[in-house]
Amino acid sequence: MGPILVLIAAAIWQGSASPTIYPNLDILRVKKGDSVTLLCSGKFPVEWIGIQNGSTLMVYDNGTLYMPKASCNQMGNYQCAYINKPEEEIRTLYVAVTDPTDPDLVWCGLSDVYPSVEKGRDALIPCLIADPGFTGNMILLKDSSPVHSRVSFSPKEGMWIHKVELSDKGFYECKAQVQGKWVISHRIILSVYDNDQPLTVTIGGLANHLRLQGEPFNISCRVQYHSHEYNGKWIYPLTANASWNIMDLDTGLSQSYATDYSLFIPAVQLQDSGIYTCLGEAAQLHVNVSVTLQVLEKGYLHLSTLQNRIQETNMHQNLNLQVFIDAYPRPSTYRWIHHQDFPSGKSTVSGDMSFGNHRHNNTLRLNWMEEKDSGEYIFFADNGEANASIHFHVSVKIKPKITMLTNLSSRLQCEVTGYPPPHIQWYKFPSHVDRCGQYGALILNDSHLEIMSKIPFVRVSLKSVLKVETEDSETICCFAVNSAGNDSSFIKFSVDKIIGNENENSKLLYAGFGGTMGFLLLCIIFLVYKYKQKPKYQVHWKIIEACEGNNYIFIDPTQLPYNEKWEFPRNNLQFGKILGAGAFGKVIEATAFGLGKEDSVLKVAVKMLKSTAHTDEQEALMSELKIMSHLGHHENIVNLLGACTHGGPVLVITEYCPFGDLLNFLREKAEHLIIEGLTLECTLDSMMADYKNIYLGKKYVQRSDSGLGCQSVDSYLEMKSIIASVPMPSQGTNLVSTEGKEDLRSLDLFDLLQFSNQVAQGMTFLASKNCIHRDLAARNVLVADGLVAKICDFGLARDIVNDSNYVVKGNARLPVKWMAPESIFECVYTVQSDVWSYGILLWEIFSLGRSPYPGVKVNNKFYNLVKEGYHMGKPDFAPDDMYNIMTACWKLEPTQRPTFSEICTLIQKQLDAIKEQDYKNLSCPREEEDSGCEPASYFDESCESGEVEQPLLNSNNYQFC
Ligand SMILES: *[C@@H]1O[C@H](CO)[C@@H](O)[C@H](O)[C@H]1NC(C)=O
Ligand SMILES: *[C@@H]1O[C@H](CO)[C@@H](O)[C@H](O)[C@H]1NC(C)=O
Ligand SMILES: *[C@@H]1O[C@H](CO)[C@@H](O)[C@H](O)[C@H]1NC(C)=O
Ligand SMILES: *[C@@H]1O[C@H](CO)[C@@H](O)[C@H](O)[C@H]1NC(C)=O
Repeated sequence: MGPILVLIAAAIWQGSASPTIYPNLDILRVKKGDSVTLLCSGKFPVEWIGIQNGSTLMVYDNGTLYMPKASCNQMGNYQCAYINKPEEEIRTLYVAVTDPTDPDLVWCGLSDVYPSVEKGRDALIPCLIADPGFTGNMILLKDSSPVHSRVSFSPKEGMWIHKVELSDKGFYECKAQVQGKWVISHRIILSVYDNDQPLTVTIGGLANHLRLQGEPFNISCRVQYHSHEYNGKWIYPLTANASWNIMDLDTGLSQSYATDYSLFIPAVQLQDSGIYTCLGEAAQLHVNVSVTLQVLEKGYLHLSTLQNRIQETNMHQNLNLQVFIDAYPRPSTYRWIHHQDFPSGKSTVSGDMSFGNHRHNNTLRLNWMEEKDSGEYIFFADNGEANASIHFHVSVKIKPKITMLTNLSSRLQCEVTGYPPPHIQWYKFPSHVDRCGQYGALILNDSHLEIMSKIPFVRVSLKSVLKVETEDSETICCFAVNSAGNDSSFIKFSVDKIIGNENENSKLLYAGFGGTMGFLLLCIIFLVYKYKQKPKYQVHWKIIEACEGNNYIFIDPTQLPYNEKWEFPRNNLQFGKILGAGAFGKVIEATAFGLGKEDSVLKVAVKMLKSTAHTDEQEALMSELKIMSHLGHHENIVNLLGACTHGGPVLVITEYCPFGDLLNFLREKAEHLIIEGLTLECTLDSMMADYKNIYLGKKYVQRSDSGLGCQSVDSYLEMKSIIASVPMPSQGTNLVSTEGKEDLRSLDLFDLLQFSNQVAQGMTFLASKNCIHRDLAARNVLVADGLVAKICDFGLARDIVNDSNYVVKGNARLPVKWMAPESIFECVYTVQSDVWSYGILLWEIFSLGRSPYPGVKVNNKFYNLVKEGYHMGKPDFAPDDMYNIMTACWKLEPTQRPTFSEICTLIQKQLDAIKEQDYKNLSCPREEEDSGCEPASYFDESCESGEVEQPLLNSNNYQFC
């Protein structure tokens, strides 16, 4: 700025060896932009060495060097010499250009420098040092770390970075050594730009947007270009109520330009739906990107799956169930519900959810599948706006299991469960074979089995029936197979001719014996008739399903479920003595190992049918089993403990009652003749008459029901002393002695009331379960440990053909003397008719086990008397209150009879009264007549002398219902 004052020395040193430069200095400091004139002169013509004449630096012949505008890169040494006199000295001047904005004057031209370089070219960082003390040692730092590659230093220019890349942009510093000290420049920003960068328009996120009415919608579009000469805008449906704003972005060092165009709808409406396009324009370029907005009136949720919704897997495999959920908004609740059919139950899990944009998926992982995992799986999802569910049926293949192979005399029945439904093949082996081997002869391949029960997709129970005719012994094998495996079971059977397929066979029959069919039919009818005549085992107990007045509809017990939990392994039963045997079967004492608890050893009673039992009877026993399991447990019934229904005849395992049935128990007690506290003479007398012989003869007495006289008190006392002399085992001395102890203990009124009460309680329970007993009698009450009476039905093991208590009536043998009139005459059985029978049972108890209506034959006369309302007199040991209960039970009008729970209450009162009196101090029930202790005085023929205790004739008093 302004011409500089050039100092020219006036005197020229003559004879000087070198030319002189004016100003005559070592260092000339000039400010950047100033003009500089240097004059070199001497005795000879001079030249400025290495200086090119140009516009920024001019040299003249008269030795003048002119610098119109000093710049940083003009810094340095300027040398002047005589032309063509190389032997003479050269004169040097350092021109230091200083930057007025650079305070320390070390660096020149570094301020206001923003180098910007296109990708691929060389970038210059003008690190020039104004100080002549600079040694030429210069280092470039990027982010404070030295940069070595693609870098070179030029003293007149600065640091070069060759072939810059976009990544080279950033902050640089120069570090220089000046007079032994390192100095560092301030930071210089290097920008690198890419002229190849096109115009870009980007919208982040989805291409398709969903919104519910009222939700906000924000979307942003970015337009980017290397020049700032571009434009952007939103184009959207005319109906849409959108607004948008523009925001330029600081793009840093990228040397490109970007702008965000943000579109915003605070609450969308249906008319906002449509295509939203962001358009970018630069020069001739047009770039656009579109998204759609769909405004929904209501959210939606749809479920789908790629899988088959019926899935079958093998045991212990893994299965994944996957569901796709197309939904907006995304589901807030979701779950898998498993309806287990076996064992029945329900469980809920959430599965593994993966949320996507509008499509989500959920996977349920089922590992190590077992039978319990089969059943229905429902996936349910809800997003607050809509919900849906999808069902899967999962079946775990269960290999067949033969649950029962039974011999029904002319047929073999094989029952099998499994999934998928198995089919059954019947094989025949020689009789000595006792397993289902390989070389059997196929008798029947039954693939159309009868379905007994099924839980869809889970398990199915089927049965196959093989018709056989008995002659030779064979081993017959039932072989069940499905895709999961097979099972087999065999039975030794006397068989000659196997008739497999009924249809084929009957065709044969028709062909072969067409003419004789009529005769055969007659035979069959005759046989069927005979067969029907024969009494069959049937369950007495009935369960009421519904009732209208006296018309009960009974549950078909075969339809009741049988729970496999009762199943007990046959081999864990060790049979003992027979407790009872009858026309249909027997009851055997047995020891059960591992019943209930694993290491338990329990004495049980096992009911079974005769091996010749008919199918119906098998079914009847099965029904009995089902009824018992249906009824449940009660202290005063003989409870079901288990059953064996598979692989052999049906066995029903019940509680064992060591004292046998109540009837015989009472009769045995009667032998000992101790009714403590009964002191009235007449009672004693009548008792003596009945029982005198018993203790003397030590054998069972045949009671005479007539012509009794009162005996002396002495006899009684004598007897009592005998009983008293029997040593009582002390408590706890012998664990096995319970039986004996109870046996030895004498009965008293309290015990009899207890029995009555317990039976009434058991009956209350049965009645509460809508169960009718139909054969309530002392013979069907068992006595368990602790003198607990338990109701049972011993019908199976009773020889009713030879038991005179059962009178043939129609096709059946009926316990007529225990039956209510409506049962006898109208075949009506109700809870009230059980109450009648209970009255008879009370009479049995309080007569210590005498037969009801002693000496009375069941004939028309008997029936007439019953019809007319006659009933038995008070038994010997019954208090008045008990006899009142009996007569109430024998009301002709069933509805006037008390209920079992009322009876319980009445008896309980008496028990409480006795307890109060310490039940020793009991007064003798009063008798109206001194000698007339015969209770059945209404009956003419009741006093036949010497009549046996079972006076009913078998032959002449059949009655029909
Ligand atoms: C240098 O250039 C100037 C102006 O263009 C001119 O006047 C002068 O004569 C030149 N000097 C030499 C040595 O060529
Ligand atoms: C040298 O020549 C230039 C241009 O002709 C002139 O401007 C300058 O004054 C001269 N200098 C001297 C010292 O003569
Ligand atoms: C949508 O944009 C508007 C205006 O730009 C802003 O106020 C609001 O917070 C944005 N909402 C969302 C969810 O980004
Ligand atoms: C399930 O969703 C997740 C997340 O959206 C995704 O990564 C995965 O691929 C989806 N699975 C299938 C089978 O589509």
